[in-house]
Amino acid sequence: MRLLTVICLLAGLAVAPVAHAEDGHDLWLRYRPVEASAGYAPAAIAPVADTPTLKVARAELERGLTGLIGAPSAQANHIILIGTPTSSPAIARLALPLKAAGDEGYLIRTLTLDGKATTVIAANRDVGALYGVYRYLSLIQTRQPVDNLAIASAPKVRLRMLNHWDNLDRSVERGYAGQSIWDWWKLPAYSADPRYVDYARANASIGINGAVLNNVNAKSLSLTAPYIAKAGALADVFRPYGIKVYLSARFSSPIEIGGLKTADPRDPAVAAFWKAKADEIYKVIPDFGGFLVKANSEGQPGPQDYGATHADGANMLADAVGPHGGVVIWRAFVYSHEQPDDRAKQGYSEFKPFDGQFRDNVVIQVKNGAIDFQPREPFHPLFGAMPKSNLGMEFQITKEYLGFATHLAYLGPLYEETLKADTMAEGKGSTVARVVDGSLDGRKLTAMAGVANIGADRNWSGSQFDQANWYVFGRLAWDPEASSRDIAADWARMTFSNDKRFVAPVVDMMMGSRETVVDYMTPLGLHHQMGRSHHYGPGPWVAGGERADWTSVYYAKAGTDGVGFDRTAKGSNAVAQYAAPVGTCFADLKCVDEKDLLWFHHLSWDYRLKSGQTLWDGLVTHYSRGVAGVGDMQRTWAATAPYVDAERHAQVADFLKIQHDEAQWWRDASVAWFGSFSKRPLPAGEKAPPHSLEYYEGLSFPFAPGN
Ligand code: GCU
Repeated sequence: MRLLTVICLLAGLAVAPVAHAEDGHDLWLRYRPVEASAGYAPAAIAPVADTPTLKVARAELERGLTGLIGAPSAQANHIILIGTPTSSPAIARLALPLKAAGDEGYLIRTLTLDGKATTVIAANRDVGALYGVYRYLSLIQTRQPVDNLAIASAPKVRLRMLNHWDNLDRSVERGYAGQSIWDWWKLPAYSADPRYVDYARANASIGINGAVLNNVNAKSLSLTAPYIAKAGALADVFRPYGIKVYLSARFSSPIEIGGLKTADPRDPAVAAFWKAKADEIYKVIPDFGGFLVKANSEGQPGPQDYGATHADGANMLADAVGPHGGVVIWRAFVYSHEQPDDRAKQGYSEFKPFDGQFRDNVVIQVKNGAIDFQPREPFHPLFGAMPKSNLGMEFQITKEYLGFATHLAYLGPLYEETLKADTMAEGKGSTVARVVDGSLDGRKLTAMAGVANIGADRNWSGSQFDQANWYVFGRLAWDPEASSRDIAADWARMTFSNDKRFVAPVVDMMMGSRETVVDYMTPLGLHHQMGRSHHYGPGPWVAGGERADWTSVYYAKAGTDGVGFDRTAKGSNAVAQYAAPVGTCFADLKCVDEKDLLWFHHLSWDYRLKSGQTLWDGLVTHYSRGVAGVGDMQRTWAATAPYVDAERHAQVADFLKIQHDEAQWWRDASVAWFGSFSKRPLPAGEKAPPHSLEYYEGLSFPFAPGN
C-alpha cells in the first residue's frame, strides 16, 4: 500500500511540468510551450497591412505562437487574419458586424475562407486588432479552445490609464519596485531601452491606453522644452501600442517657468501661458493625452490660492488643451489645512457644489474611498453625486497601505467591492461601476486610473504577486463588471501554471489575501493606523505633529469608552453625503456591514457583534485571524512547489515569511495599544503580545521608503 502511494506520488510529479528558473520579467506574457496534449494546431499568419500598430500586432502574434505552439508556417491549415476593413480587403469582404466594437474593440471569429479554417481578428481601428491578438493568445495561454470562436469585446471605459508617481530624479513616491523606469537622463536621445517596449506590450495586453508619466506632486520642470522632448520620445515608443502619454501639471507653473507673478486661472496672461504651453506640447506630441492636476491638496498650489474655484482652474486648463483634443483630469483628493471638518467629508463638500460646471473635456478623478487607499474603505460619496460631470475612478495599484511589495494582497476583490457597491443615486442598481463606465448618466468621457506599482526591478512590481494587481486593474478598466476571481485565474495560469492543482488553491489564496491584510491591519472598519509618514507597520499611537488628520488617533478615537469614528448624525454626519438609503444604512447599526462598523460608529468595547462576541474580543479575533491567514497562505504556497520554477517560488515564500512576521507585529502592537484602553482580558486562547506597548511604540524605521 505504501509502495503504491509512493509510485502514485512519483507519477504525479512526473506529469507536473518541469519549471525553469525565471525572474518574473516576462509578466503574464511568458508564452512558454504548451503541452502537446492540448492539441493546438499550427497556424499561418496572413499578410497584414503595413501600419505601425498592425506591425506590432503581427509581431506579437508571431512571438506568442512561436513560444506557445511553434513558429507560424505558411503550410499550416489554419490561417489567422488580422486587421480592419480599411486595411484588409479580405476583412472588408466579410462585412462583419463591427459597429459595436467601436474605436478600440474587436471581433474574433472562426470562419472558412477559401476552404481553409481561418481565425479572423477584426476591428475598426488597428489598436482593436492588437487587443484582439492579445486576447487570442491569452486563450491559448489559459488553454481554452480556439477552433470555434465568436468573441466580441469592447472596452466600457474610454481612458484606462496608469498614473506614475515618478519623480524626475527617478525616485517613485510610494513605489516599492526600485527606481522609475523612465530614464529621464538618457531620454530623449536614447529611447530604445527594451523595457519601454515591454511596458507598452504589457499595458496593451490588458487594454491600458494612457500613462501619466510624472508624479501628481509635480515639478514645473516637467513642462519645460527638454522634458517635453523626453516625454515625446516615450510617446513615440508607446504610440503603436495605443498608449497616449499625459503629464501631471503643477498649477503654479506660470510663475515658476512662465515668468508671471500669478497663476490665478482668471488672469488672461495665465490662460495665455497654458494655451501656449499646450500648443508647444502638441507640436512635439500630436496625440498628447492631457494634464493630470493635483490642486489645493496636501500643500500643492491651486486656484483656491487666488480665491478661484476648482472649476475655474480645471476649465481654464481644459480650454488650453481642448482645441487639440486633450483632456484635463482634475483630482478630487482634497482636504485643507484650514478646514476642521472630518477629512472624509471634504472631497464631496468641495466638489459637489460644482456639478455641471466643468467643461466636457474635464474628468474629476475620485479615489475609491474618501480617505486614502486604505485596506478597506466604503465607496467615495462623490460617486453618484455628480451626474452632470465626468467622474473617473482612481485606484491605487502600488500597496502604500497594504504592506508594500512584500505582503501578498491581491487587490482584485478591493476594486470589485468598490465597483459593485450600489450608490442608489438613481435607484437600485446605480453601482459605482455604472458611474465609472458612464452608463448611469449617459456620460461618454469615462476614466479609470491606477497609481502604478511599476519600477525598474526585474519583476517590474517589486513582487511576483503584485504583477496581478497591475493585471487586474487593466482588465477591470476594460470591463468594470468583470469578476476579479476569473481575472485572478487567468493571471495565475498565464504567469505560473495551468495545472489545476496549482490554479485552484492559488486563486483561492489570492481571493482571500486582501481580507487577511484587513484582518491583521485594520479590522471592522478601522483605518489609517499605520506608521507615520512612511506608512510602514502598525502605528495606532501616532498622534500630534503637523496635522490631526495625518494621525492614527484621529481616525480610531480609542478611549476607555470605546473605539471608532462616529460619522452618523451624532458625529461628523458623513453618512449624509450618501444617497438616502445608503447613508441611512451606514448609520444604522442593524444595517451597516460589520466590515465598515468602526468607520461609521464609535462603540463601546462591550458592543455585541453579530458573532455574539464583544467588540474587544472580536477585534482581537480578527487580528489573530489575519496572522493565521498568512500562515495558511504559506502552506498553500509551499504545496505549489512542483508547479513553479524554483526562483520565483522561493521569492514568494521568502516574502510570505516577512508578511507573517509583520502580520504578527501588527496584531501584537494593535492588541497592546487598544488593550490599553479596553482594559479587558484577552479572549480565551489568545496570547498576550510578547512585548510592552512602549517597545512597539519605540520601533523606528528611518530607511523605510516614504520617509
Ligand atoms: C497619499 C500619499 C501621498 C500622495 C497622495 C496623493 O496621501 O501618501 O504620497 O501624494 O496620496 O494621492 O496625492
